[in-house]
Amino acid sequence: MSDTILILGACGQIGTELTQKLRSIYGADNVIASDIREGNAEMMSSGPFEIIDATNQEQILSVVQKYKVTQVYLMAAMLSATAEKYPLKGWDLNMTSLLAVLELAKEKHIQKIYWPSSMAAFGPTSPKMNTPQQTIMEPSTVYGISKVAGEHWCNYYHDKYGVDVRSIRYPGIISWKTLPGGGTTDYAVDIYFDALKKGTFECFLSENTRLPMMYMDDAINATIQLMQADEKSIQIRTSYNLAAISFTPAEIATEIKKYIPEFTITYNPDFRQAIADSWPQLIDDSAARKDWGWRHQFDLASMTKDIITNLQAKAEESAEV
Ligand code: SER
Repeated sequence: MSDTILILGACGQIGTELTQKLRSIYGADNVIASDIREGNAEMMSSGPFEIIDATNQEQILSVVQKYKVTQVYLMAAMLSATAEKYPLKGWDLNMTSLLAVLELAKEKHIQKIYWPSSMAAFGPTSPKMNTPQQTIMEPSTVYGISKVAGEHWCNYYHDKYGVDVRSIRYPGIISWKTLPGGGTTDYAVDIYFDALKKGTFECFLSENTRLPMMYMDDAINATIQLMQADEKSIQIRTSYNLAAISFTPAEIATEIKKYIPEFTITYNPDFRQAIADSWPQLIDDSAARKDWGWRHQFDLASMTKDIITNLQAKAEESAEV
């Protein structure tokens, strides 16, 4: 039987690009995008779209039945910085949506689930360098608590009910097509936009805050590769560590200066500094590399080149209109 995919939270940073990639692989009509509000013109015109509140199991079920959905990618979530402002709302969105899709899979309405965890599942007592797949996990943020709990729910539904749920602990994801919102790693996206527009950037993290990061293209490839992997190769049903690059605000600024020599950066750390300080600096993802063949393609230099080239081309295009 062919796959029909439903994406919950399709209008977010990752969901937007994931939707387009999945539509190119599985055929536009087989990939149903959904969110609590309508998406951009490309999202709305490139395939089916439904309004769904990801915490509403009945709404999800009715769309699953309408299109005979086989796989769900649950991309709706409240990120780390916003969830610190609205702890119970963050917990509710992140947990209720996950339990809703796990229940639908347990009841055999869907066959496969993708759910993202995060490096935020680690905390101040986890090793910061080469953070292992299995180690102490005592997160200090609401977002991290929801990710660690969610990982255990995934593992539980797999072991107890045979649910095929797969997950990755994403590092910070860097994109230029759709902006992130409410995350602690968002600075590494904002910096490119400000560098090109204003020539200067005020960073909300300090100069030497090293965090694991990844270019969007690599994140999308990893996600689809994990979902397409042979079930027998998936040894971990909590969530896989995933890594690509790791850099500080000072290092990304140096890279940007190669294209914009007059670029300047200033540092004004806020409450997000404490969140970043509680996370790993470099993650060991050897299990993902061994079990399902994960390889990243972009480093800091090639990512920066790609983003700046694309943003400059986009600016020229809109100037011509
Ligand atoms: N990018 C996320 C955040 O900063 C981490 O998973 O919240």
